[in-house]
Amino acid sequence: MCLFVLKPPPALYGGRHTVTLIPGDGIGPELAHHVCDLFRFCCVPVDFEVVHVDSAMTSEDDINNAIMAIRRNGVALKGNLETNHNLPPSYKSRNNLLRTTLDLYANVMHCQSFPGVRTRHKNIDIMIIRENTEGEYSSLEHENVPGVVECLKIITRAKSLRIADYAFRTAREKGRRRVTAVHKANIMKLGDGLFLECCKEVASGYPEIAFDSMIVDNTTMQLVSRPQQFDVMVMPNLYGNVVSNVCAGLVGGPGLVPGANYGEDYAVFETGTRNTGKSIANRNIANPTAMLLASCLLLDHLKLRAYASMIRRAILTTVTETRLHTADLGGQGSTSEVVQTVMKAVQSTGPLTLSI
Ligand code: NAI
Repeated sequence: MCLFVLKPPPALYGGRHTVTLIPGDGIGPELAHHVCDLFRFCCVPVDFEVVHVDSAMTSEDDINNAIMAIRRNGVALKGNLETNHNLPPSYKSRNNLLRTTLDLYANVMHCQSFPGVRTRHKNIDIMIIRENTEGEYSSLEHENVPGVVECLKIITRAKSLRIADYAFRTAREKGRRRVTAVHKANIMKLGDGLFLECCKEVASGYPEIAFDSMIVDNTTMQLVSRPQQFDVMVMPNLYGNVVSNVCAGLVGGPGLVPGANYGEDYAVFETGTRNTGKSIANRNIANPTAMLLASCLLLDHLKLRAYASMIRRAILTTVTETRLHTADLGGQGSTSEVVQTVMKAVQSTGPLTLSI
């Protein structure tokens, strides 16, 4: 038996990082392809190990291979995998299997207004911290009595404390001022009540950060009417999904916002809203921004910060100054034109000074 539990470092061979790449379904493969092209163009020292997951396959072999590859490399970039709701209840979401098996407990999505993108609300800057491994996603459903389905929502003290602490730590690191816990403790007094209690407990250890809480229904109403009031938000799994989709919509849609899943040992980066965009796949019209920004989060994680900032700056120049937008933002640019514009913006910044 091993006496020490070692945190595996990200795979690094001869100065290059190996990163697992799961192209996923829908627009995932074409966006993954663009990330590879952009990294090659920018001479980023990352080699992708591509692992395909067939979400239609009933056996879990594919997803287990992908999980093994992430264990080996420590980090992954992932397109979303479809979870067809017509499949039997025994079929588990591959996305969820991956997150729970690797214990990627914190989903982080930073929703910020983009100056060049026309939206109803301006000056949004919200960090959403979502518990990523329990809640309604336990997939434990029974129909013992016909017509009566029981569905388990699991909330534990240990995991609620863990995510609350993650939220407050993040708030402290990023110099944020307030954390809002989102819940439905008025109805789910035990489950959401426990989550809220844990948040309060953790808050007492961070006196410089204000803490408040809001019921989830009011939260969504407040978000669509006055989103600027929110700073860092922490919540259980399903509310996190709903709130992050609302917030992505507020700043311009699913094509813009990246997302990250962190655990103690592994990290997986993807688009924030995690949808597949099946209906727009292979038409060269998907907005690549969210996936390209997710690749920048990956580079931050690998401490390749100079590359991350160079690419992020070029993406932001493309979105906010050049304003070459895809159809979802009301523009006429294609996916590949946006990526080429990002490359031009990289080129115009001159050679990279590596002060990593
Ligand atoms: P969807 O994939 O149909 O996307 C919603 C809308 O956003 C569509 O109009 C799509 O064209 C547009 N869109 C998405 N990405 C875009 C991009 N990069 N550029 C431009 N437009 C873009 O969403 P839906 O129906 O929610 O999900 C489809 C699949 O994704 C399902 O299999 C579902 O299981 C899976 N999924 C969705 C999640 C979500 O948060 N919405 C979470 C996990 C899985």
